[in-house]
Amino acid sequence: MKIINTPAEWLEIEKSINRKEKHQSIGLVPTMGALHKGHLSLVERAIKENDISVVSIFLNPVQFNNQNDLKTYPKTWEEDCALLEKTGVDYLFAPTYDIMYPDDYHYKLSEDSFSKTLCGASRPGHFDGVLTVVMKLFQIFLPEKAYFGEKDFQQYKLLDGMAKAFFLRTEVIPCPIVREENGLAFSSRNKRLSPAGLAKAPCLHKALASGKSVDEIKAQLEADGFMIDYVTEVGNRLYAAASIEDVRLIDNVER
Ligand code: PAJ
Repeated sequence: MKIINTPAEWLEIEKSINRKEKHQSIGLVPTMGALHKGHLSLVERAIKENDISVVSIFLNPVQFNNQNDLKTYPKTWEEDCALLEKTGVDYLFAPTYDIMYPDDYHYKLSEDSFSKTLCGASRPGHFDGVLTVVMKLFQIFLPEKAYFGEKDFQQYKLLDGMAKAFFLRTEVIPCPIVREENGLAFSSRNKRLSPAGLAKAPCLHKALASGKSVDEIKAQLEADGFMIDYVTEVGNRLYAAASIEDVRLIDNVER
């Protein structure tokens, strides 16, 4: 695995491997690090389905509306590198803020409908930050395929919509949610939970999967000690965000 820190370095590599002449496909997996089995499932798929695989680790500050959330976001660089080495991924892109935002975020992408609901309602600007950084990554690597988890289903839908709206030549591929045996979706933020919080956290998925009404699910989550942000049905999908020990967890199920 080769670590790259700048788009210029990638352009040099791309030239030296004759990627365009050889028509080699690229699969990209954007992440913010603190990697877990959910991330690794995306990486394995990118490796399997493409000639060249790239993972990015960039804790994108502009998608955090809450500075404390950014400050306390788990950072596990050494472990991340070790995990990625084992997967056999070809490149790890790890830029700094100044490299990713030469414009200091004066240029940004936004969507003005679905992004204002669910997570976007309580995290103003969050999806602008996500769309902008992923557009930058797509422009740097021009991947044929990019992999995103259904754990962040709203994010996947918005990125897929962006790729289509701007006629991007990247296919946005949704990947199933990877869960612990107890149903808890793997999440970097789970690393911030105490043992007691970790014992409670699976109740979120259990409630969503119970088949009960939205009101019953809300009552159950409150009884379980969650601070609810939303439990909302959109189409055939039930979305929820709720905090435990001040750690914000999200999940969704089809129904
Ligand atoms: P991050 O939270 O690190 O997640 C990176 C990718 O892993 C996302 O596509 C996310 O949906 C997926 N993922 C996380 N947990 C998962 C799980 N349990 N099962 C399956 N996939 C899972 O999402 C982001 O980073 C950022 O917003 C990013 C897209 C990188 C832009 O900064």
